[in-house]
Amino acid sequence: MTSKLLHISTIGCQMNVYDANQISGVLAPLGYRGTDSIDTADMVVVNTCTIREKAEQKAFSFLGRLAKIKSAKPALIIAVGGCVAQQEGEAILKRMPHVDLVFGTHAIFRLPDMVRRIESSRCRIVDVRLSDRIDVDRPMTGPQTDGQVSAFITIMRGCDNYCTYCVVPHVRGREASRHPDRILEEIRLHVQRGVREVTLLGQNVNSYGNKEGLCTFAELLERVNAVDGLGRIRFTTSHPKDLSEDLIQSFGRLEKLCRHIHLPVQSGNDEILRRMNRRYTRRAYIDKIARLRTVCPDIAITSDFIVGFPGESDRQFKATLDLIEKVRFDGLFAFMYSDRPNAPAAGYSGKLNESVKKERLQALLDLQATITRQKYNSLIGHIFRVLVDGPSRGTSADPHSPASPQIRWSGRSSANHIIHFSVPDRHPLNNELLTGNFADIMIEGAHAHSLWGRLIDDSMDDRPGKGETTIAA
Ligand code: 5AD
Ligand code: SF4
Repeated sequence: MTSKLLHISTIGCQMNVYDANQISGVLAPLGYRGTDSIDTADMVVVNTCTIREKAEQKAFSFLGRLAKIKSAKPALIIAVGGCVAQQEGEAILKRMPHVDLVFGTHAIFRLPDMVRRIESSRCRIVDVRLSDRIDVDRPMTGPQTDGQVSAFITIMRGCDNYCTYCVVPHVRGREASRHPDRILEEIRLHVQRGVREVTLLGQNVNSYGNKEGLCTFAELLERVNAVDGLGRIRFTTSHPKDLSEDLIQSFGRLEKLCRHIHLPVQSGNDEILRRMNRRYTRRAYIDKIARLRTVCPDIAITSDFIVGFPGESDRQFKATLDLIEKVRFDGLFAFMYSDRPNAPAAGYSGKLNESVKKERLQALLDLQATITRQKYNSLIGHIFRVLVDGPSRGTSADPHSPASPQIRWSGRSSANHIIHFSVPDRHPLNNELLTGNFADIMIEGAHAHSLWGRLIDDSMDDRPGKGETTIAA
């Protein structure tokens, strides 16, 4: 079989990163191997995102640039996958004559047939069929890259929540969960290849298995926790309305479950939450945070916010700032509201102009930056167990920067802080063996988005530890 080169360009969330791995897995038997270079590729897959208008524009401008490459190399196959493909379908072929294939979010396993047909007859194909359930009999392709410390595992797809601003239910289809046995098989395969940490993915992992009558998400976590050789478990994303007491208890019970939860709240005002169709109140959210902190006092809590939802008044926005001050998140992502096709909020009155949205976004980010700085500074002197994920690129404010004869490494704490540390370059630990191991790091300083510190002697091994911090003597 002739070897051909495949370039996959991924925009968007972790689901797309996972899907990219599946795409390279299903195309490998056709002779495709991955390349970072578009110029040498025989096929380019653009794995798109449409969560906000900007992401969609990014996909189209990238696709636009490919037209030139295709005209110089007509044999190149250009395929568009992901959420923009699902949303726009046939329209992409009409708008972009250089595109050969548009495949939706449920079409990945039909890719080999479609690519074979294009290779033999140069036809153009659109496949955006959605199905109601995950085809459990289909083998997942397994890890395509070796040497990874962390891996994403999709445990479910789709969403039935229909938040009024959101395009996801329209482009990822109805919620459907994979069978736990398949998930565990895939995790074991990753662990055999050296993965130490998995992140379980779904739009709303808290409702995992409900529809199909599989186990609950807390029960799934329990089974994943028992996988030998696995060091850490993370998951994302959780919907506050479905965060069960059972799951909250898991943070106290499961030693491999990282002390971090991403719990998107979107707004701190009840009327806005109602109009977003979030189905919880500000009070209910605050109560869940309190429960989490009771069960696991050092749990890190991060969130997503949308500013400038249609009709959001100044007072309602202030309620969001007030919630941020009350909860004191460990980090957050904030977005300006963006109209999406098929999302009901696109038809709501009271749209705010871009400058108001920008101002609110900035105010929110400034507030969080202050909280993050205070939180980070309070961590100086603490010791964190870190999973080392590889050598890191340097930042100048760090006295351990690579200008000195040191090699910088980076990893993450259980609470998901990014932590850099250095080891003298002739130190016996400075080889690939560091990657994928755990080490205790004493925090000595903070950047805006990361911490740096010193390796505690003899603390490097393959044991994840409990992950809690201790104050240095
Ligand atoms: N406009 C702005 N932000 C959005 N998000 C989802 N849809 C929109 C939209 N239409 C944000 C939410 C969600 C995150 C993934 O993206 O905060 O949690
Ligand atoms: Fe979108 Fe809401 Fe579903 Fe999240 S829970 S994917 S915001 S509809």
